[in-house]
Amino acid sequence: MSELTEEQAKAELARLAMEIAYHDRAYHQNDAPEITDAEYDALRQINNEIETQFPALIRSDSPTNRVGGTPDSGFSKLRHRVPMLSLDNAFDAEEFAEFCARARRFLGWTEKLAIMAEPKIDGLSINLTYENGAFVRGATRGDGTEGEDVTANLRTMRDAIPERLHGAAPASIEIRGEVFMNKADFLALNEAQAAAGQKLFANPRNAAAGGLRQLDPRITAVRRLSLFAYAMGETSEPVAESHAGYLERLRNWGFAVNPLSRLLATEDEAAAFQAEIGAQRSGLPYDIDGVVYKIDNLGLQRRLGFVGRAPRWAIAWKFPAEQATTVLKEIRIQVGRTGALTPVAELEPVNVGGVLVARATLHNEDEIARKDLRIGDTVVVQRAGDVIPQVVSVVVDKPRGEKAYEYPSVCPACGSHAVRPPGEVVRRCTGGLICPDQRVERLIHFVSRNAFDIDGLGEKTIQEFYAEGWLHGPADLFHLPEREAEIAVREGWGKLSASNLSRAIRARRVIALERFIFALGIRRIGDANAKLLARHYGSYANWRAQMLAATASGSDERLTLGSILGIGPAIAEELAEFFGEPRNVTALDELAAELTIEDAAAAETADSQVAGKTVVFTGTLETMTRPEAKARAESLGAKVTDSVSKKTDIVVVGADAGSKARKAVELGVRTVTEAEWRELVGE
Ligand code: IVH
Repeated sequence: MSELTEEQAKAELARLAMEIAYHDRAYHQNDAPEITDAEYDALRQINNEIETQFPALIRSDSPTNRVGGTPDSGFSKLRHRVPMLSLDNAFDAEEFAEFCARARRFLGWTEKLAIMAEPKIDGLSINLTYENGAFVRGATRGDGTEGEDVTANLRTMRDAIPERLHGAAPASIEIRGEVFMNKADFLALNEAQAAAGQKLFANPRNAAAGGLRQLDPRITAVRRLSLFAYAMGETSEPVAESHAGYLERLRNWGFAVNPLSRLLATEDEAAAFQAEIGAQRSGLPYDIDGVVYKIDNLGLQRRLGFVGRAPRWAIAWKFPAEQATTVLKEIRIQVGRTGALTPVAELEPVNVGGVLVARATLHNEDEIARKDLRIGDTVVVQRAGDVIPQVVSVVVDKPRGEKAYEYPSVCPACGSHAVRPPGEVVRRCTGGLICPDQRVERLIHFVSRNAFDIDGLGEKTIQEFYAEGWLHGPADLFHLPEREAEIAVREGWGKLSASNLSRAIRARRVIALERFIFALGIRRIGDANAKLLARHYGSYANWRAQMLAATASGSDERLTLGSILGIGPAIAEELAEFFGEPRNVTALDELAAELTIEDAAAAETADSQVAGKTVVFTGTLETMTRPEAKARAESLGAKVTDSVSKKTDIVVVGADAGSKARKAVELGVRTVTEAEWRELVGE
């Protein structure tokens, strides 16, 4: 140890802080330790020894100052001392002039205003808190009031976020700016993601957000994120008199300020600036979607204040979406989990504002017909902010494709009929479980987060295992551990990852009823409805029996099924359709045989305080949806109705309740708040 130089010690402590934090999370949050306890203790021991030798280098995030467990919700919340607001938009010179005129009227000011102009980066804003010159914490914008604590990740952005402010600084200050990813880094990241068979990011903004919201700071560290600082939150003392002066201080403290920012002597220079930046836009290394104009004088900013969630002293003048023309090579039809056919345009790759676009969404069958898109057409492609590229229109004075595009009426994956019910925009494959694409998509859904949540089984792995013939239906997943040795020698796998996968799969043999129901991927049964069903029927055996009974009976019974659940007849129809298909029931039984499905909290009707009572819900409920509240009440033996009468026993009054609440008071019916109701039903 004694041979470490100070430089090496510093680097080693940084590495150990991250490494130990990583293993803490693996152990405490993911319940999946990757090293033995002895190896973990050895890491801490080395860290302690270096800290003893170089006490001046002890980090604020040192593992010795921390106990292992942090809350398992991912990131903890941080409250901004001053809210992080948004900006109003202008789309042309007239709207910009109105903004200036409004500000001048408000101030009773007749002179022209000096304005700071800054390119509007399309990234995500963050709030950095410095105390006595040291970076202490940083948070995402979140809802503007409260964001996520991403301090550990921000600390990896060494070049962009100074650990200490250079020179004199206030005792405490919030510094704000935009975290973003360069276009080139974004393209390289997507290439790497594609090579690893992982999800592609739609745009640099999403990639930056993904990079910052990593639970493992080591991933953030390699994502190459940048930052431009541009705003202030709370400060313990004034730091400048003008925004330009503040930007100067930011530069001196060690932040990057966008070099294209310019102080305009008057608002009249804005239109020229807008055009100048617009002309440079596609050549810039990062995405911008407009220019932010801020009245420079901070005294005036204070007087102007805010209206709603935006300042009166700033406006974002947006650019139109970036467009390019290219050739439509092919229309590919994707088949989703529920059989929906979605068209995707395969394009001659084209640079749209600095990002190479080879694919674009075509929305649906009608859109293709409306635009009269033909293969071989030259089309206008657009990339607007954070949306997936779109095909806007056909360039009609270029040579056209020969024949009108005919939307397939059979599924491209399995050849089954693809039908479009009257009044719907989506055409669906009727192949159900025999359609390979639907099967793969269902498997992907089955292992997803709110379903079986099996770590280590990504989209690409499912596709590969499916192609091997290892996975026909979800029940086969539970036989993958038998192939552990085979998996371990596959490309990209090893002994450890294969054994981790087996462990993750085995751990899910015991599953909550609601996760099980959600995992089946029945159309319209999202996680909320799955929860309702689970609570209503209590056990898997009961649910299965009741569904089969309702399916075998007439449609009147199905309507009753819908209203029992409080979730309407459409959902009852979907359930009936699923259970009406014998192959589905077989697959369900095979699957259930592999599992222990835990009962949902039993409905305790008889002794409930609300059993036999007539209940009305009114106003907005905060902790539950209306259908959920209704189902819960009914499962306890209450009758839920819509209108208040003398027969009503209890009216549950949510936020902004209106006439029903008044009527209850008039009739002398008992009213309770949502919280009181939850107490009554024992939640
Ligand atoms: S100032 C109260 N300046 O735009 C004013 N915002 O639409 C706060 N943005 O959330 C924002 N570049 O993410 C400001 N130079 C800039 C900006 C900028 C990008 C983003 C920021 C903000 C959003 C508002």
